Amino acid sequence: MSDDSATRPAKAEAIGVQADTAMDHELAELAAEFPQAGRRRMILPSPIGRIGTDTPDPEPAVLAALSPDAVMMMGDNPALPRMPARPTLIDFFRHRFGDITFRHLLTSAKKALDEGQEEKVVMACLLHDISNGCLIRADHGYWGAQIVAPYVDEEVAWAVQRHQALRYFADESVGYAYPESYHRFFGPDYRPPEYIRRDAEEARNHRWYMTSRLVTLYDVYFFGAAEPIDPEIFTDIIGRHFRQPQEGLGFDGSPSAHMWRTMIWPNNFL
Ligand SMILES: [Fe+2]
Ligand SMILES: [Fe+2]
Repeated sequence: MSDDSATRPAKAEAIGVQADTAMDHELAELAAEFPQAGRRRMILPSPIGRIGTDTPDPEPAVLAALSPDAVMMMGDNPALPRMPARPTLIDFFRHRFGDITFRHLLTSAKKALDEGQEEKVVMACLLHDISNGCLIRADHGYWGAQIVAPYVDEEVAWAVQRHQALRYFADESVGYAYPESYHRFFGPDYRPPEYIRRDAEEARNHRWYMTSRLVTLYDVYFFGAAEPIDPEIFTDIIGRHFRQPQEGLGFDGSPSAHMWRTMIWPNNFL
């Protein structure tokens, strides 16, 4: 992965504090380049990542802490690597995706490439868990398909959506078995809900079935210390199969531009 230390200040909390030491002075200068400079910027986590957990609802306390010196965060968070003004797909890989998703997507796509699969399959592998990267886990295939749909061929988005359902169902014709990891994730007696069964069945009878099925075949997690893969090796394939907007992802007015913006500014209050 890239070294983000140049763009990622160590202490977001340093914003607005007195510059007592050389280190604080440096951080304060850096913080001044970010929005809402000079004030404490408070973050209220999105409810979707908190409800149902042990974390108490922080909203009342955060709202009570509002003052002229303490505001709700909007815009670039200094704790995150700063995104370029016109972000590309690879910028999201480098600066926003969690480490496991970063490695998982690159590994899946590389396996498909090494085994000589068509570029559309490689592209679908590269994108299939994009929602897990930085947006939302639940129904990640459906979210992921919507995120990428304006920029890829319909077949690629279709395959991204259906891989979620097809993962639960074996296909011996290509050597795909029910994932061992799912026994650990969900318990050995887990049974996917009706909509997943229905969507998998529909996918199996679709002319693009094998594109999505191949995504599931290369959908393997490697938690070990595998050789790092540079996302740049996919630059040409992305160039041919992902229509990067001139304005940058998030700013082109597409139906999913807001999803990319949410990944750029995940801590915005509104
Ligand atoms: Fe997935
Ligand atoms: Fe995956």
